[in-house]
Amino acid sequence: MTGFDDDKTVPDQPAPTNPALDAITPETAVMPERPPYAVEVKELRKTFGTREVLKGINLQIEKGSVAVVLGGSGMGKSVLMKHMIGLLKPTSGSVLIDGEDITKLGPLELKRVRSKFGMVFQQAALFDSMTNYDNVAFPLREHRKDMSVAQIDERVRYLMNLFSLDPDILGPRFPSEISGGQRKRVGLARAVALEPTIVLYDEPTTGLDPITTDQVDEMILQAKQSLGITSIVISHDIASAFKIADQILFVFEGEIVVRGSKEDCLASEHPFVKQFFATWTAKNA
Ligand SMILES: Nc1ncnc2c1ncn2[C@@H]1O[C@H](COP(=O)(O)OP(=O)(O)OP(=O)(O)O)[C@@H](O)[C@H]1O
Ligand SMILES: [Mg+2]
Repeated sequence: MTGFDDDKTVPDQPAPTNPALDAITPETAVMPERPPYAVEVKELRKTFGTREVLKGINLQIEKGSVAVVLGGSGMGKSVLMKHMIGLLKPTSGSVLIDGEDITKLGPLELKRVRSKFGMVFQQAALFDSMTNYDNVAFPLREHRKDMSVAQIDERVRYLMNLFSLDPDILGPRFPSEISGGQRKRVGLARAVALEPTIVLYDEPTTGLDPITTDQVDEMILQAKQSLGITSIVISHDIASAFKIADQILFVFEGEIVVRGSKEDCLASEHPFVKQFFATWTAKNA
């Protein structure tokens, strides 16, 4: 490691002065503006009738990161997700997508914001009567009238290859003729065809065997690494959350009670969170 030793041969010199820098005082300094989060939620409350389902949610999701929303059933995870794409209006609070508050937007503007999102549902929700190739091509044929058949073909093949789906072998088959893990990957290839910047996954691994779960985890990481996609994953799967999450958001009765890393989750003193992770801790001790 001679590179570091070489530094010692540089004689000490007084720091160069720069009049322009000297003129900056704490009062005149302007902090460079940080780029907006992909998603930021501030003091979000939602009441249905007399029941408050979201009780002041605050969260920030960095662009290009993976956030996993964990929590028990009926705690408000799906309601939170629906606010992020403007399917529900909050009772109070704000939801910022790329820095833009979407809670006051009308239908047309919401449509524009929603085009930033891709969705991957639990059942993959593919069109069973179409081949896998046609499933991935579908959103492009519907929304990208500017693209030629050859351009669409190129993009479909790129996406299928990206998620380890051989377009020549698996493309002509129907969803019923491929495995559950492959169906999920076709679902994601279709969800990202229109180049969304954020993908929402509602319980992508629920009911899958461990190998398929692993493939889904890899696919989420691939979307992050190759396409720079921000992923928000609703899950019950602790192992998978620990594997893929840059940030875990634990929802309990409409509040986020843990926000952070695997270690933060395991160190939580919240009784429900402790109980939730107890099985995992016991298995992995
Ligand atoms: N449109 C609605 N009107 C009234 N109550 C609702 C509505 N949508 C959701 N709720 C209630 O809000 C609570 C939270 O529901 P939500 O679907 O967000 O739970 P969840 O955390 O996604 O649960 P799960 O893990 O079972 O999917 C539930 O008690 C549900 O009954
Ligand atoms: Mg739900």
